[in-house]
Amino acid sequence: MDHPRRKRHVGKWLLAAAIVLAGVAFAIMWRPAIAPLTAAPSFDQTRIARGANLARLGMCASCHTPDLAKPFAGGKPMETPFGTVYSTNITPDPETGIGRWSPDAFTRSMRKGVSRDGHHLYPAFPYNHYTRMTQADIDDLYAYFMTRPAIHAPARDNDMTFPFGFRPLVAFWNVLYLDDTAWEADPKQSAEWNRGAYLAGAVAHCAACHTPRTMLGGPDLSRPLDGGEAEDWYAPALNARAPSPLPWTREQLHAYLRTGIANDHAVAGGPMQDVVMHLAQADERDVAALATWTHSHLAQAPARSTPAQQAGSLPEPKADDPDLQRMRTGYALYANSCARCHDAGRAPSSGTALPLQKAVALYDPDPRSLIHIVDDGILPPDGEPGRWMPGYRTILTDEQTGALAAYLRKYGAGQPAWPDLDDAVRKARAP
Ligand code: HEC
Ligand code: HEC
Ligand code: HEC
Repeated sequence: MDHPRRKRHVGKWLLAAAIVLAGVAFAIMWRPAIAPLTAAPSFDQTRIARGANLARLGMCASCHTPDLAKPFAGGKPMETPFGTVYSTNITPDPETGIGRWSPDAFTRSMRKGVSRDGHHLYPAFPYNHYTRMTQADIDDLYAYFMTRPAIHAPARDNDMTFPFGFRPLVAFWNVLYLDDTAWEADPKQSAEWNRGAYLAGAVAHCAACHTPRTMLGGPDLSRPLDGGEAEDWYAPALNARAPSPLPWTREQLHAYLRTGIANDHAVAGGPMQDVVMHLAQADERDVAALATWTHSHLAQAPARSTPAQQAGSLPEPKADDPDLQRMRTGYALYANSCARCHDAGRAPSSGTALPLQKAVALYDPDPRSLIHIVDDGILPPDGEPGRWMPGYRTILTDEQTGALAAYLRKYGAGQPAWPDLDDAVRKARAP
């Protein structure tokens, strides 16, 4: 039988527990404001120049403006599974930017993902990578940003799905995914490799795209560099599971990261094009270090025999192919639309291109990157106006795009059919 006194007792305990929990949650979520600067700081030129290089390696410009005429003024939308986040103004405008931020406020934002006034920032801002930068590098970035032209541009409201509009929830994400222990060099590796590892992990955030994410949008730390995604493109695995049909040499990686194009490999497309544009302007030695580090991972991929080792046109479908109708449609599209450029092999400054059996997009575990390439074509890299591919979005139907992709996967790459290809085509091509 229930005893009224005991009931009251339980009630008290529950209340106490609720208060303790609320206190713990508050301690996890709440962050104080940091006092604004009262005097304008000054910086020496070497700091600013080093900061400029780090800003390129960290690709700050690619997210912090949609408008090249207004560098770092913010306002670029970023789609996340939890809603749309807009980047903010990181020019030194005192009202709408970081002009009143002290070095401590800037450091806290980079290390803890907390704004000067104490609100949590969404991890669409890759502070979970920047947190591991050296203090000297963060100070150099501060010097660089505090000396950019100030632009008045208020932040836009985010458009988050319930309950993610409540920023303090990010504090729990940080408990799971924010590892702000200091970066440590691996003494078994060369100084160049260690420089590359540091830049890749703490600055250029390669894993933000190349490592898969969990349901909560955090990096799946059990599968480092196992292939991820960005803006609906597949970002290939950079480890033993790399889909690339031909092995990468260190020299090819250096050329690819610097210019977006390397012998025997596909061009950098989609979000990787943006990465390369930034690396093109960074310190050459840093790009070389990134290539050394990346190569050490890609070199773990076992040698495979793939159609990429053969030259020449792709074959007609076999007469006994169980999916003959569709494969014939795909082959006809390839022969009429693609072969004239892709069968010629890539020549410098011309419209001709890599034979498609060498294109990594045919070997990816899902067809998204291939569909985007066919839809949108390829814009030429700087200085190579001839290297251009037209987009087929308005020319091919969903069915034709699907048939072409199915044919290329089977007769170009010799790989098992992509599951749910038709769904993927519809989704990737949806307006
Ligand atoms: C992948 C996209 C991305 C990259 C790359 C990026 N940022 Fe951001 N950053 C964001 C977004 C989005 C926000 C706003 C987050 C929010 O409001 O919750 C932000 C916010 C910030 C803030 C906080 C500003 C404020 O008003 O609270 C600072 C400081 C900042 N970024 C600095 C940098 C620096 C420095 C770099 C380069 C080293 C950089 N960001 C690179 C997306 C990015
Ligand atoms: C006018 C010439 C032209 C046509 C036609 C063309 N492409 Fe391309 N394609 C290019 C160029 C140039 C590149 C850039 C990279 C290069 O040089 O290999 C490219 C790149 C690609 C890539 C990325 C791999 C790579 O080569 O870097 C794929 C995949 C691709 N094209 C598929 C297709 C398909 C499928 C068709 C037919 C629907 C097609 N292309 C038609 C010129 C063309
Ligand atoms: C914003 C997301 C993003 C970031 C950051 C990023 N990548 Fe990529 N990367 C991609 C995507 C997407 C592709 C696939 C491009 C394609 O199919 O054309 C790619 C392709 C590549 C490839 C080619 C793989 C192959 O087999 O063809 C290499 C190598 C690579 N990235 C290395 C890096 C390195 C090193 C870094 C860090 C310095 C990095 N990436 C940062 C998205 C990203």
